[in-house]
Amino acid sequence: MLAKFITLDGIDGAGKTTQLNVIRDWFAAQALPVLFTREPGGTPLGEALRALLLNPATQVSLHTETLLMFAARRQHLEDVILPALARGVSVVSDRFTDATFAYQGGGRGLPDGQIEILENWVQGSLKPDLTILLDVPLAVSLQRIERSREKDRFEQEEADFFTRVREAYLRRAAAAPERYAVVDSNRDKAVVRGEIEGVLDGVFGVDKAA
Ligand code: TYD
Repeated sequence: MLAKFITLDGIDGAGKTTQLNVIRDWFAAQALPVLFTREPGGTPLGEALRALLLNPATQVSLHTETLLMFAARRQHLEDVILPALARGVSVVSDRFTDATFAYQGGGRGLPDGQIEILENWVQGSLKPDLTILLDVPLAVSLQRIERSREKDRFEQEEADFFTRVREAYLRRAAAAPERYAVVDSNRDKAVVRGEIEGVLDGVFGVDKAA
């Protein structure tokens, strides 16, 4: 079976951690080779950049923040994502370029066109085969962020910021529905699990009736 590049994204507090476990279970049950990774991060350089980018003490301009996200991404692609796909191993990334469009674009106001230039330069034509976009109402997101022990530099933003981030994600998904599965994760755990399993079945052509 062909290896796929799958990304999981959404506003902070949308439940990525829980759903990553659902995805892990699905791959284990199918006995398909898969590599789980994350952004920013995924390589020693990327993890060092992540620490800087998430640290509330870091002072960084919007343009620099965006360049650092793409610098981490390029290393991630070269060292981890592309080699895995070439070996026939699917890749599941906890966040990818949609997060840049949502946070640096929607949240902070960087024009999409500027992000697209970097996307094309860093990724060429590579886009995820599937992006699972977890969506929750803003109030749910804020409540979950409030509960986190230490807020990172993004989690310290105000409610309006997350409203814009969420809208940017939903706008992107609506513009390219063939690549996105928008999953309302503010529902019963078993229902969300079933929906994500169904999406993965569809992408990998798993026939449950067979
Ligand atoms: P997150 O994935 O939420 O990690 P955790 O689950 O450990 O809190 O943290 C990553 C943060 O980085 C998140 O707030 C979104 C932000 N981010 C961007 O702003 N732009 C990007 O391109 C990426 C990949 C992440």
